[in-house]
Amino acid sequence: MKTIRYSQLVMPQDANVFGTLFGGKMVSWMDISASKAVHRFLKKSEADAALTRAIDAIEFKETVHVGDWVNFEANIISTGKSSIVIKIDAYKESKEIDKTLACTARFTFVSVKKDQFGTYKKINHNQTI
Ligand SMILES: CC(C)(COP(=O)(O)OP(=O)(O)OC[C@H]1O[C@@H](n2cnc3c(N)ncnc32)[C@H](O)[C@@H]1OP(=O)(O)O)[C@@H](O)C(=O)NCCC(=O)NCCS
Repeated sequence: MKTIRYSQLVMPQDANVFGTLFGGKMVSWMDISASKAVHRFLKKSEADAALTRAIDAIEFKETVHVGDWVNFEANIISTGKSSIVIKIDAYKESKEIDKTLACTARFTFVSVKKDQFGTYKKINHNQTI
């Protein structure tokens, strides 16, 4: 599967008390990037959706400022029976710098299906990369 792309402009409401991008906001955007990759991956499966099960190896490498763009690249790196592992690289883009790796993490999603009681239960996705 090809790299999935997603972008966000850092607005003042995304900042922490130092005036730079709040880490929790970055993680939230990475989660959305991962879910876009998983959405494409599951299109032909029986799963209704996928839920975030784990976030690993998160690293904040560079400070991102209000007014910067953050360009996310999501790549599915492995799959299991119900699990899908996605590597997310978040690159900052400013007036001066085109592309600097700002943050990286590995997300594990689990494919789910809604049962008759409206509860989402794990389901095998039967898909390969
Ligand atoms: C997602 C959920 C339905 C999974 O159901 P479950 O019966 O608990 O299943 P498990 O998590 O034990 O296993 C599912 C898969 O995740 C993998 N897994 C479990 N823990 C993991 C971890 N810490 N890291 C990576 N993979 C993990 C398992 O190996 C399994 O993979 P496989 O099916 O490919 O072999 C359930 O855990 C859940 O609802 N969690 C809350 C999800 C949530 O609210 N997310 C935040 C909002 S999206």
